[in-house]
Amino acid sequence: MQKKILVTGGCGYIGSHTIVDLLDYGFEVVSADSLFNADEKVLDGIEQITGHRVVNHKVDLADRNACQDMLDAIGHVDGIIHFAAFKSVGESVEKPLMYYNNNINAQINLMDLAPRYGAKFFIFSSSCSVYGNPEELPVTEQTPLQKAESPYAFTKQIGEQIIQDYSKVNDDMKFVLLRYFNPAGAHESAIIGENPINIANNLVPVITETAIGKRPQMTVFGDDYPTRDGSNIRDYIHVMDLAHAHTLSLKYLIDHPDAPQVDIINLGIGEGVSVKEAIEAFEKVTGQKLNYVIGGRRPGDVIAVYADATKAMKTLGWKPDRDIDAIMDTAWRWEQRRTSQS
Ligand code: WQD
Repeated sequence: MQKKILVTGGCGYIGSHTIVDLLDYGFEVVSADSLFNADEKVLDGIEQITGHRVVNHKVDLADRNACQDMLDAIGHVDGIIHFAAFKSVGESVEKPLMYYNNNINAQINLMDLAPRYGAKFFIFSSSCSVYGNPEELPVTEQTPLQKAESPYAFTKQIGEQIIQDYSKVNDDMKFVLLRYFNPAGAHESAIIGENPINIANNLVPVITETAIGKRPQMTVFGDDYPTRDGSNIRDYIHVMDLAHAHTLSLKYLIDHPDAPQVDIINLGIGEGVSVKEAIEAFEKVTGQKLNYVIGGRRPGDVIAVYADATKAMKTLGWKPDRDIDAIMDTAWRWEQRRTSQS
């Protein structure tokens, strides 16, 4: 019997790539997305890649009545993958209330209502930013959480705590908290990729937008950090490897009734790459020279964070198939295609 999965944020970057992987592995999928930072055109791309037409329900999940109306329209769901959230570290420092309202209220509404529609599995899009400036590297799922360095990161710490507390009074649902490191890259076809409605803040789209001429120049936010080359270190994970980890997480919960009620899994590839090394990888893979300057530090940035990915491999049987070069190759091909179509 095909399992029906609600993907919130399904028209977004990670949501759309995850829908492709879920469909490829036989799940039925429905999307809910407010389209605040996404375009429904991505559903055409998903159909072109998979042959399946996915329906999106345009809804602000932070509005409880709208969330309930959407779930009434969908009917039964077996599981939920909750991506829908604002995710820019820098923007959250400038607009904290927007982040707290959207990220927390959407999750509460969804978790409170979902069991009434049959949902037994809830996969939460968490983030390595919950570790703050970690006291050890690489970080494991047992690494103590430090102070959140941004309101975005704090909404993810709160989101995880909400699940821990809720799970104590609702043993009908099982949860996997996936702590993403730095998702980047695009589907190999270049038919879908990172396509924010609002200005991109993340490093890789800023690199490709600069290289293609949408931006005259980009800034490296600080090279005076205590790292090997002075720039921040991150764990860049290809979005399709990340997507497949969601499919494997669902299969894990479905196939393992004895799974813990709440499981926490890091999703990074276990390698730290600096900002300067990421730029070098882009220039090597694409042959494009990047126009950048060194600027001041960005508020909210942590110095270095990268994963110990052992648990994802052991629990989910997951392993990354792509590295920073594949990220830059697919991101660049997507940027060229996206620009040629605009
Ligand atoms: C990476 C590095 C910047 C832009 C991300 C996601 C967040 C969460 C955690 C999943 C930093 C530097 C960037 C630029 C730069 N992931 N940079 N110039 O802040 O690590 O957060 O990972 O949930 O959702 O946003 O990612 O790509 O913004 O920054 O120098 O123009 O690139 O300073 O060191 P970040 P990022």
